[in-house]
Amino acid sequence: MELRTTGYDPRYKGSCVSLIGETWDLRRILPEAPKPRIIEELFFREATLDVNHAQLIVDEAGEVHGYLFGIIWRAPRGGVGAALRSAGAVLWALGRFLAGELGPRKRAVATIRSLLGMLGSLDALRRDDDAYLSLFIVRSSLRGQGWGRRLLDAYRAEAAAYGCKRLYLWTDKSCNYGFYERMGFERIKEIESPFLAEYGSGPNGFVYALPADEGVAGAAAV
Ligand SMILES: CC(C)(COP(=O)(O)OP(=O)(O)OC[C@H]1O[C@@H](n2cnc3c(N)ncnc32)[C@H](O)[C@@H]1OP(=O)(O)O)[C@@H](O)C(=O)NCCC(=O)NCCS
Repeated sequence: MELRTTGYDPRYKGSCVSLIGETWDLRRILPEAPKPRIIEELFFREATLDVNHAQLIVDEAGEVHGYLFGIIWRAPRGGVGAALRSAGAVLWALGRFLAGELGPRKRAVATIRSLLGMLGSLDALRRDDDAYLSLFIVRSSLRGQGWGRRLLDAYRAEAAAYGCKRLYLWTDKSCNYGFYERMGFERIKEIESPFLAEYGSGPNGFVYALPADEGVAGAAAV
């Protein structure tokens, strides 16, 4: 199998969504939704809303084996096309909700509210000179071979080129946050969200930051 990195193209969407399903069990978010695939697609669409950096690992048959999506606030953000795509994503989600594909509507509303509340409080920590890492996966069979570092380095270099001072992300206990610590990220906040309660009591979510360009920003600027 020959692997290469490439930018995002909508033809990769199905494979990107499948990789989410292989990585995390998202059924816990909306356990009564009849088709888990819808939750995975909802998650993918939400996480990639507004992104302007995407690097994918693909094979010769077009299957996706990993990716990093992020938002570089200082880089161009897509204009009308991106706004239409965002509106399309919202309409898609609304359609699934009305069709009952997210499970009982009342419960779906309560869950989505609680999730958006948590995300909103984390978004409030973002600064204009941040680059926000929104979705990052390397297929389990490829982990430990340097792909993650390569995707992260490319993102960091692009963010620094646009004058961003900091890479910023939030993660939870179900993710490989040890990787971020190995890469030099500093844990700047711990959260204890009922939404993440199944990962145990005490802090179950973390916010991490890393200077985009070590030489310019320095650790003290994080
Ligand atoms: C996080 C992830 C993308 C890392 O990808 P990867 O290709 O395995 O990472 P790399 O092989 O480039 O690892 C780079 C270094 O980090 C180290 N590392 C990785 N996970 C680590 C951990 N949990 N603790 C300490 N070091 C770790 C590697 O050993 C390697 O060290 P080295 O430079 O000394 O060799 C991958 O583990 C993954 O997809 N996890 C599941 C999804 C996830 O949790 N994503 C994070 C989003 S919130």
